Amino acid sequence: MHPRTGELTAPKHALDQEERTPRTAYELVHDEMFFDANPRLNMASFVTTWMEPEAVRLLMENLDKNLIDKPIYPQTIEIQNRCVSIIADLFNAGEDAAGTSTVGSSEAIHLCGLVMKWNWKQWHQEKYGINAALKPNIVMGSNVQVCWKKFALYFDIDLIEIPLNDENRLDEEAAIAKIDDNTIGVVGILGNTYSGEFDDIKKLDKLLDENNKQRQRQVPLHVDAASGGGIAPFTREHKDIVWDFRLKWVQSINVSGHKYGLVYPGLGWAIWKRKSLIPQELIFKIDYLGESQDDFGLNFSRGAGQIIAQYYNFVRYGRDGYSRIMNGLMQLHAELKIKIASLKNEDDVPIFDLVSHDNGLPLICVSIAKPAADLGYTMEILSHKTREKGWVLPVYTMSSPKDNLTVMRMVLKEGFNSDMADKLVEDITWAVNEVTRTTKKPALSHGAHGIC
Ligand SMILES: Cc1ncc(COP(=O)(O)O)c(C=O)c1O
Repeated sequence: MHPRTGELTAPKHALDQEERTPRTAYELVHDEMFFDANPRLNMASFVTTWMEPEAVRLLMENLDKNLIDKPIYPQTIEIQNRCVSIIADLFNAGEDAAGTSTVGSSEAIHLCGLVMKWNWKQWHQEKYGINAALKPNIVMGSNVQVCWKKFALYFDIDLIEIPLNDENRLDEEAAIAKIDDNTIGVVGILGNTYSGEFDDIKKLDKLLDENNKQRQRQVPLHVDAASGGGIAPFTREHKDIVWDFRLKWVQSINVSGHKYGLVYPGLGWAIWKRKSLIPQELIFKIDYLGESQDDFGLNFSRGAGQIIAQYYNFVRYGRDGYSRIMNGLMQLHAELKIKIASLKNEDDVPIFDLVSHDNGLPLICVSIAKPAADLGYTMEILSHKTREKGWVLPVYTMSSPKDNLTVMRMVLKEGFNSDMADKLVEDITWAVNEVTRTTKKPALSHGAHGIC
């Protein structure tokens, strides 16, 4: 029973018979939501947890629009197309580029993967004739996000995983060595999920070009820029890195609008270098929504609000605004990283080793330093302890061959600021000292040893 409203509690397993007033229903559901963590203190996720009120207003104003109703909402489609053009331009594509919005990078990756599979099938049939028994494969680093494993499983493709090199990046030579006539594509990551480094896409492209020439193949390169695609075009650190459509074999790129595109979830983008890369067989013509329209996506109905919010960000920030935000995050990252990496407990024992390298996302990934591990510190204990202060710091193991290394990650994103960074350091220091007290052996009792 709800003490104030006198209502029964919210239904858990079956609909109640009676209606409630909107007010009561709101209160019941609203109160349940207090048990979630505070999204702004969620250092685990790359996904946007803060947007400007004007963006939120636009999002709300467009909540009732279904994106698939293209003939009914032509301006929404126009805005989606503008967003595709703006992103393609940021990634240095030419005028032939094409793209679409998706629910996130996962769906974008599935669409780009399907395009690679279809184009490979066409190439293979032209070269060898039809061979239905053949199983295609795709080559990528072991540090890929789970959506690639889903893609391979759901679309029946062998996933060839290349172990990480010392810098937590794809070993380009090893990846190229795995390519054969059944390879639909090679994937490079601009900002891996585990520790944030950018793969060397330029080197990968060069080696792939040599390999394609030698073996007379046309294996394309896909860049998973889920996070990095929103950062690299704007940051001083990355301005000299060539990773996008300027490279010969980069045919498709995914980016999450809801990560460093600065939009609330869920919004992703899939961009192709040329429209002609998308096989016509994958595009459905539908005519039951008023007029004939093309459809290429895994979903049908979907909200349009995020696209409008993405466009708001583009209108609002421009290159200068995105540069200000992303460079600000990189600066904050550099300062916070030094503080976290040099953290010691009250007995002067160093706590963390830095696992992430500098060439990627504003993300700090650390493992427990040996002296602290010897004292009984674990990432799980520290993460658990900082949770008492509201922070969410995820603990996981790196990918092969570092899969016995347990790490903790802090992702910096818009809405995080230097005061919050100071508080995070303060709270981790508190957690470290709390853990020190519990791991310390009890002091020797004078009486028991008869010293006095
Ligand atoms: C490198 C990378 N690729 C793909 C994804 C999946 O993105 P989304 O959550 O937008 O589906 C993520 C998510 O963190 C990621 O880090």
